[in-house]
Amino acid sequence: MPILKLEGVTYRYKNKYQSVEAVKNVNYEFERGKVYAIVGKSGSGKTTLLSLMAGLALPGEGQVYYNGRSTKDMDRDRYRRDEVAVIYQTFNLFPMLNVLENVMYPLQLRGIGGQQAKERAKEMIAAVGLTDVVYRRYPAMLSGGERQRVAIARALAADVKIIFADEPTGNLDVENSDRVIDLLFDLCHKRGYCVIVVTHDPDIAGKADVVIRMQDGCLAGETLNRNGQ
Ligand SMILES: Nc1ncnc2c1ncn2[C@@H]1O[C@H](COP(=O)(O)OP(=O)(O)OP(=O)(O)O)[C@@H](O)[C@H]1O
Ligand SMILES: [Mg+2]
Repeated sequence: MPILKLEGVTYRYKNKYQSVEAVKNVNYEFERGKVYAIVGKSGSGKTTLLSLMAGLALPGEGQVYYNGRSTKDMDRDRYRRDEVAVIYQTFNLFPMLNVLENVMYPLQLRGIGGQQAKERAKEMIAAVGLTDVVYRRYPAMLSGGERQRVAIARALAADVKIIFADEPTGNLDVENSDRVIDLLFDLCHKRGYCVIVVTHDPDIAGKADVVIRMQDGCLAGETLNRNGQ
């Protein structure tokens, strides 16, 4: 069974003035242990599709199934807490928590104790190339690239089944971008996670197992990279 299945997924943004069909009749199956890159022009519906898959919004028409269960029928708070992690275009770190607390947060939500959560958080902070110097800093005291790496460490620490990332390396230099992408993709393959990354970066798309192209809200094509066969 695919871990995530999209069936006729359609989404419209509606307000007083207009209605925008951002995602149109998308059908797709995602498997465990694979890295997917979603590419496409600005406004093609990538972030919207990610929100639907992460349970942040429900499709207007169609279904998103996680392990065979529609997001419309499940406890979506639990889904978002226990099964998926999202690395946002704008990081979404908690401004009132320091770095260590930010990374520990998803673990504590799930009842993992202080010391254990702290050890795991430290491990992940080191894995994204940050040192103990940043533990006690608040997000406002970090550079854009450092914030991004903390957001990635937080997603990795949570040990979820699907990691969604929206342009996760937008603020990183080449060296750090390579490092976190390799880490993310490696963990995916080793631990059987499903990683779904929206990216404009051809190098990242080239490292994914499968590249999915969005065009004007539609899924316009799929390419299997050599490593994905
Ligand atoms: N809150 C909103 N209200 C109305 N329309 C929206 C809203 N958010 C996005 N849209 C529209 O939906 C379409 C898809 O937007 P989306 O953010 O999914 O694109 P994207 O592919 O992620 O673009 P980018 O690469 O610029 O991040 C666009 O036409 C956009 O203008
Ligand atoms: Mg976007």
